[in-house]
Amino acid sequence: MISVDTIVVENLGKRFGETQALRGSSLTIQSGEIFSIVGPSGSGKTTLLRCLLGLETPEAGSIFLGEQVVFDSEKGINVPPEKRGVGYVPQTWALWPHMKVRDNIAFGLKIRGMERPAIEERVERIAQVLQIGHLLDQWPWQLSGGEQQRVAIARALIIEPRVLLLDEPLSNLDPRLREDARVWMAKTIRELGVTSIYVTHDHEEALSFSDRLAVLILGRIRRVGTPHEVYDNMNDPEVARLFEFNILAGKTVREKEGLLVELGGGRVKVIGDAPPGREAEVSFSPWNVTLGQGTVKGKIVSWKFLGGFNEYSIEVGGTLIRARSRERHQEGALVDLDIENCVVLGPQEPEEATAAGRGAARRATWLKRVLRWKPRSTPGEPRVHPEKGNVR
Ligand SMILES: Nc1ncnc2c1ncn2[C@@H]1O[C@H](COP(=O)(O)OP(=O)(O)O)[C@@H](O)[C@H]1O
Ligand SMILES: [Mg+2]
Repeated sequence: MISVDTIVVENLGKRFGETQALRGSSLTIQSGEIFSIVGPSGSGKTTLLRCLLGLETPEAGSIFLGEQVVFDSEKGINVPPEKRGVGYVPQTWALWPHMKVRDNIAFGLKIRGMERPAIEERVERIAQVLQIGHLLDQWPWQLSGGEQQRVAIARALIIEPRVLLLDEPLSNLDPRLREDARVWMAKTIRELGVTSIYVTHDHEEALSFSDRLAVLILGRIRRVGTPHEVYDNMNDPEVARLFEFNILAGKTVREKEGLLVELGGGRVKVIGDAPPGREAEVSFSPWNVTLGQGTVKGKIVSWKFLGGFNEYSIEVGGTLIRARSRERHQEGALVDLDIENCVVLGPQEPEEATAAGRGAARRATWLKRVLRWKPRSTPGEPRVHPEKGNVR
């Protein structure tokens, strides 16, 4: 049986020499949730997973799996990786070339000292679930990319992990196989019900794969929410850039219909709050630009055909934006534009980054921990009070 646990990460800090890979990152992942972490290359995604696994030791913060504290910098708690019950699919899959598939999958149980017959039974069972029974006596080099990926997932699941961590699991696959692999993986993980963290640099993958997602940029969590919450309220400039939204600056105006912003000689209704009469930046998706109507004036600089739609590069008030449409428009043409779901961007630094924010976050964290503390714990797990430490 795979158990299903929450993951709570609080104020995790990790430095490599001069590089601050994680800057006080906090997250709460519900049991059974498929949670994505999306961020550009070098933003700290792999480091965060390795901290959860116990392969890296953070300088600051704490990690809870279910009710167990597996890491706490202040209390000196650092549970070794093999005792955390975390399944991991590394970015490269890292199958051992000198072991057949069967032994690759069994490895995690062998190092935990399980008896051979019990191991065999579990390998057969997981191979059946993941439909790789016919591959068990092959060598890794005999497998296709998609098959290697399934074996890597089997190897992570064989230990019956309390949580599953997947590090960019589709990035090594041929683009043609990626969509099938993504659908298979999402279905498999959902059926197993295991709490999963799925790391990717691809925002479309994160949106399509997860119940909720977090955006990690330069070691800091900038945004957490459901795919719709994040996509429909793109109010953080860094997150908007990562999701390839357009960003334009204009003057805000308050009218009876609400807050507007002046762009390219016209006016567009905006979501969010900003003082009127000031310069403000707004973000919007290339899909939310309507060509051929509206008060904003633009000039089509170039376009490309992308199969089901065209992508236009349009100059608006001296800035280039992208717009997507099924309709054909001529290069060089002047067009009227309307923009929907235009969101006012907030300040560059998230609130947690300010001293006041940090104080408030600490108090909220403390309260949350105390409220979460329950005297009962699952058998065999150490009972750890979030404030007082081990109480066994
Ligand atoms: N073992 C290491 N030694 C030194 N720097 C590291 C090490 N691991 C990661 N880093 C640095 O930490 C930052 C975050 O890396 P990583 O977590 O691998 O990012 P991501 O997985 O998002 O691409 C990068 O600047 C990277 O160069
Ligand atoms: Mg990485």
